[in-house]
Amino acid sequence: MTSHTLKTLPTDVDPHNLPKHVAVIMDGNGRWATCQGLPRVAGHRRGAKVLKELLRCCKDWGIAELTAYAFSTENWRRPTEEVDFLMVLFERLLRKELAEMHREGVRVNFLGDLSELPPSLQAEMHRSMAETANNQAVRLNVAINYGSRNEIARACRQVAEQVHRGELTPDSVDEKLVEQHLYTTGGHDPDLLIRTSGEKRLSNFLLWQMAYAEMYFTDTFWPDFDRTAFHQALLAYQNRDRRFGGVGKPALTA
Ligand code: IPE
Ligand code: IPE
Ligand code: MG
Repeated sequence: MTSHTLKTLPTDVDPHNLPKHVAVIMDGNGRWATCQGLPRVAGHRRGAKVLKELLRCCKDWGIAELTAYAFSTENWRRPTEEVDFLMVLFERLLRKELAEMHREGVRVNFLGDLSELPPSLQAEMHRSMAETANNQAVRLNVAINYGSRNEIARACRQVAEQVHRGELTPDSVDEKLVEQHLYTTGGHDPDLLIRTSGEKRLSNFLLWQMAYAEMYFTDTFWPDFDRTAFHQALLAYQNRDRRFGGVGKPALTA
């Protein structure tokens, strides 16, 4: 099946049981490029196109929110040339794609400690968030310089400061309050996590928010993740019984 035949939601997917929020760990760009005899950065360039296409697919198929892991707090350990390339790529993409995303009703948000990013990139990020803040068609969150442990430690720090100032008492600290101090505050928790490239770990991504996410792992490298691959992930998701600690769906046969 070629991608263009999947313009609308495939008929074997139940439109009433779609994940509202999909998170993706876009992994395998480097290995994809190496397999093609290309430099690693060619994989990142291609990976960006795949994200754009997946966002469009979410919109076409009625999935309201997509969160993508683009750069972790640990990715600074990579060679400087690769890190620099990624920073320039993020900025170039924002400049190039924002107008079209805005026209298509995309609301863009960034998760992570943006203050450590190059100032010109930060400026583009803040501009994109402000410009698209009222868009309703689909929500795109991009995690850049994001790490869950950093996010949770930051939330603890902010709450501690409020207690210290006497604005809060320790016993008013509950899950809801912690959630309000996360980068993702105001959004829904992901229903489905997809990680490409065969790795089966979270790599410090949305540890709090994915307490009850369904996880789907595929060997496909991110640059090859197309509508057909997404279709497979949705079918797998719809086969899961999400119990949330309860007893699940009643058996069909008595
Ligand atoms: C994911 O692909 C993209 C980023 C982390 C920016 P990788 O660059 O991790 O690709 P592999 O895992 O080395 O193949
Ligand atoms: C996770 O991928 C981060 C992103 C996709 C941005 P990595 O390739 O950095 O993860 P590890 O190092 O294999 O766990
Ligand atoms: Mg990787």
